[in-house]
Amino acid sequence: MALNPVRWPAEAVWEAVEPLLPGFSVEVLPEIDSTNTELMRRARAGRHEPVLLVAERQTAGRGRMGRVWQDGGAPEAGELPSLMFSLGLPLAPVDWSGLSLAVGLSVAESLDPDARAGLGLKWPNDLWRHDCKLAGILIETAGGGAALPGQPPVSRYVVIGIGINVLQRPIEGTSTPLAALRDWQPQASAPEALLRVIPPLAAMVLGFAGSGFAPLLPRFLARDVLLGRPVRTSDGLEGVAAGVDAGGALLVHTAQGTQAIHSSEVSVRPVPVSPPGS
Ligand code: BTN
Repeated sequence: MALNPVRWPAEAVWEAVEPLLPGFSVEVLPEIDSTNTELMRRARAGRHEPVLLVAERQTAGRGRMGRVWQDGGAPEAGELPSLMFSLGLPLAPVDWSGLSLAVGLSVAESLDPDARAGLGLKWPNDLWRHDCKLAGILIETAGGGAALPGQPPVSRYVVIGIGINVLQRPIEGTSTPLAALRDWQPQASAPEALLRVIPPLAAMVLGFAGSGFAPLLPRFLARDVLLGRPVRTSDGLEGVAAGVDAGGALLVHTAQGTQAIHSSEVSVRPVPVSPPGS
């Protein structure tokens, strides 16, 4: 039995979000395979209600492109190494493109509102600080679902899974070093980060459903960590990152002209620049 159980602000989150998402509920589990996997299972079984599922441990946490999300293990003295949750809700946006960028933007603005800590967005949906990864986002959808009031009738159930590093820890098998909230926020904890992130995230997702990504473009560009940097993609494209377009596609200036990368199944890395004369 844990000596210091983690104290989650479930009620405060519920009170802030339920007016936006009628029928919303908050669940916290000590352990599950993956919060995304669980909400996708529920969606396939016909459960399409808006829910926030938080896990203290994931035994099979998933990332994009088949990667794993390493959660850092069991809480010690009530301290969780990372915050892991999935927000599931029915959604019917006019255009889905750019949703992951909107989600990342909301989380970055919640955790570093004035950008003074240098929290940025690495297309399509990682949060980076000083070229180290603070958080990752995995968005999945399942067919069907009742529309929320004011939305068009056809909707999909969307599962927005987010993992945020709270404490520094050794990680295996990834080329990107880790950033953690505690690097610049000594008081940071998984529960307080949850309360900071979720209400604005729910509002962002609903705003996105109505207006799409285009109105968010200037805010994304202000935090775009790739902008102006030489990049290489996993499918061999090389060039200089030139921001994103109104649909959230990454723009890369190449020798052949500007290319727009739409697929989130392509990974993009900044290419280290050698100092002159080296
Ligand atoms: C990535 O970096 O590629 C995305 C990582 C997403 C991790 C979160 S943790 C909560 C939710 N459940 C999962 O299995 N994955 C997401």
